[in-house]
Amino acid sequence: MVDPLASAAPLVEAREVSKIFAAKSGISALSGTRYVRAVDRASLAIGPAETVGLVGESGCGKSTLGRVMIGLERPSAGSVVFEGVNLTALSAHRLRRSRRHMQIVFQDPASSLDPRYTVRDTITEAIRAHHSRLPRRKLAANLAALLDMVGLPLTSLSRLPHELSNGERQRIAIARALAVAPRFIVADEPVASLDVATQAQIVGLLADLQRELGVAFLFIAHDLEVVRFLCHRVAVMYLGRIVELAPVDALFDRSRHPYTRALMAAVLSPDPDLRREPVLLHGDPPSPLDPPKGCHFHPRCRHAQVRCSLLGPDLREAAPGHLVACHFDL
Ligand SMILES: Nc1ncnc2c1ncn2[C@@H]1O[C@H](COP(=O)(O)OP(=O)(O)OP(=O)(O)O)[C@@H](O)[C@H]1O
Ligand code: SF4
Ligand SMILES: [Mg+2]
Repeated sequence: MVDPLASAAPLVEAREVSKIFAAKSGISALSGTRYVRAVDRASLAIGPAETVGLVGESGCGKSTLGRVMIGLERPSAGSVVFEGVNLTALSAHRLRRSRRHMQIVFQDPASSLDPRYTVRDTITEAIRAHHSRLPRRKLAANLAALLDMVGLPLTSLSRLPHELSNGERQRIAIARALAVAPRFIVADEPVASLDVATQAQIVGLLADLQRELGVAFLFIAHDLEVVRFLCHRVAVMYLGRIVELAPVDALFDRSRHPYTRALMAAVLSPDPDLRREPVLLHGDPPSPLDPPKGCHFHPRCRHAQVRCSLLGPDLREAAPGHLVACHFDL
């Protein structure tokens, strides 16, 4: 697959982004507030019309990085640059204006749509948020075009969310995201809550939209097969850090980080016994409240040496366009 980033400047770029949350511990009265470094100095550039996959175990910071990259959360450190503008430095008002070019589609369409709003209300509200004076006739034409894009009939306009299937609801959530002609969409596990047949339809729809509209996507997912189908490049996160970033074929055929290899071996193995294991790794995932020193992965890595527990490896280019955060060439 051609990587559009090879010939273009980034559309959106996270530069050394960290995001720290205050997290109450179970016995907060005794131990007080503790902090989670949900994202730890992550850098990621996405080109126009490029789809970058973001994978990793639950809680590793994928959604947080996605939310920071569309300006829904401010980073605790680092910056996000969109079309050359540093979003981190903008006032709330200017950030809101820039955000119309960036949208998010969530995992669960049932909870992301207001149950009292018809499809017409939902999409109209999204359009009006940025084009408050759009004439009625233009609005009607926009509504029809959006429904057509997501493969739903005009009769859907009068429906409420509970009158739609889960797949139809996700199509509406996608139409709502497209309503402002965004240039960048974060799709946060957009097919995870759908049955297998509907998943395939929505993945097909996203692939068509990507081709036809030239929108850039950050596609967050656990399903590596879908990531392989949709994405040009893939980033792998582990406890807040990006540990590998590569063109999709290089990542799937020649992964270099031991964590990526374990993730792939478990999920893509033809052996159903291996597939049943969520991740073929030694030991439990460490607590994000108290990540291991040095390379976060060292307690679970069978290649770990003394150096790994002392020093965290930086991302380095191990092959053209293929970045890996490991001290060794494995
Ligand atoms: N608003 C918040 N307040 C406190 N902690 C948070 C908040 N949002 C996320 N976290 C913590 O930050 C870490 C990363 O969470 P995040 O939701 O980004 O992970 P994720 O990779 O998207 O996980 P999943 O695959 O389960 O969706 C987790 O430890 C989570 O508990
Ligand atoms: S730096 Fe060490 S612990 Fe980390 S992935 Fe590489 S070999 Fe494993
Ligand atoms: Mg998430």
